Amino acid sequence: MLALETIGLTKEFSRGKIKALNNVSLSVESGQIFGLLGPNGAGKTTLIKILLGVLNPTIGNARLLEKPINDIGVKEKLGYLPENHRYPDFLKGGEILDYFAGLAGLPSNQISDTKQRLLKLVNMEKWQGTKIKKYSKGMLQRLGLAQAMINDPDILFLDEPTDGVDPIGRKDIRAILNHFKEEGKTIFLNSHLLSEVEMVCDKVAILDKGNLIRTGTIDDLTSTSKTYRFQLSKTPQKIIDGLHQFSLNIHHEQNSIQVTCSNQKKLNGIIDYLRENHIEIKSIVPHRQSLEESFIEIIKKI
Ligand SMILES: Nc1ncnc2c1ncn2[C@@H]1O[C@H](COP(=O)(O)OP(=O)(O)O)[C@@H](O)[C@H]1O
Ligand SMILES: [Mg+2]
Repeated sequence: MLALETIGLTKEFSRGKIKALNNVSLSVESGQIFGLLGPNGAGKTTLIKILLGVLNPTIGNARLLEKPINDIGVKEKLGYLPENHRYPDFLKGGEILDYFAGLAGLPSNQISDTKQRLLKLVNMEKWQGTKIKKYSKGMLQRLGLAQAMINDPDILFLDEPTDGVDPIGRKDIRAILNHFKEEGKTIFLNSHLLSEVEMVCDKVAILDKGNLIRTGTIDDLTSTSKTYRFQLSKTPQKIIDGLHQFSLNIHHEQNSIQVTCSNQKKLNGIIDYLRENHIEIKSIVPHRQSLEESFIEIIKKI
């Protein structure tokens, strides 16, 4: 089942002077973590706002949980953590969740249990009685995630959830997202932080200046080149010289070598050659292009 689908979405602002989205068609399967990547101003927030019904598209259409986006019933199945959200900072974390639970129409006898369950999930139980002006950015984002989940949504929209959060806070957020996924939910997240996305997303799309440039799994976008890094017990120069029969490209540094070979047969040739020469192989690691490297390459080509 598709959790969401956009069909030729175009959004213009300022009477057509700004084209925030240009004919964007994408789909997200249920249960996936989907990452929409792109530099600032690419149109990511605009796309989420259209899906939520906050903005209307200029042209095109979209479906959520196989219903049109203006379907009222579908709204209660959505959760949303806006970019740079601001809660009134004189409120305590727990009070904010009470307020949003009320907005979501949760029956009053369920509010307390739901709130405690979510606070535990985001590891904020201890802080529910503290005013949020004392919270760090990571704590605010964790509280924001609890807020976005208060109505037990099927699709969670997160706009830059880890922006401004320190590395430990980001790790906590990733764990929460994975937990949510294990419950069978769909997550649609916007981010310009590629290394984050790489760690959690099943599928990604790259948006640039309103145009959808690529869609695929992380594997599709980060092709493994045929480069391998070997850790060896020793690397005498005559062995390195001998490796040139298998590989055109060799980098040598202390006891490590990096070789590029055209096929697997050559790679196995290298292994046999090293073993025959009594070199101990400690590890062989294929070198994968990072999402960041692919992203820069893809954006540059346009
Ligand atoms: N309400 C608006 N009025 C005019 N221009 C807007 C409005 N919202 C967004 N834009 C413009 O649309 C483009 C895409 O913005 P946005 O969706 O916020 O990008 P992103 O979230 O990828 O950073 C930008 O050029 C932005 O300035
Ligand atoms: Mg944005």
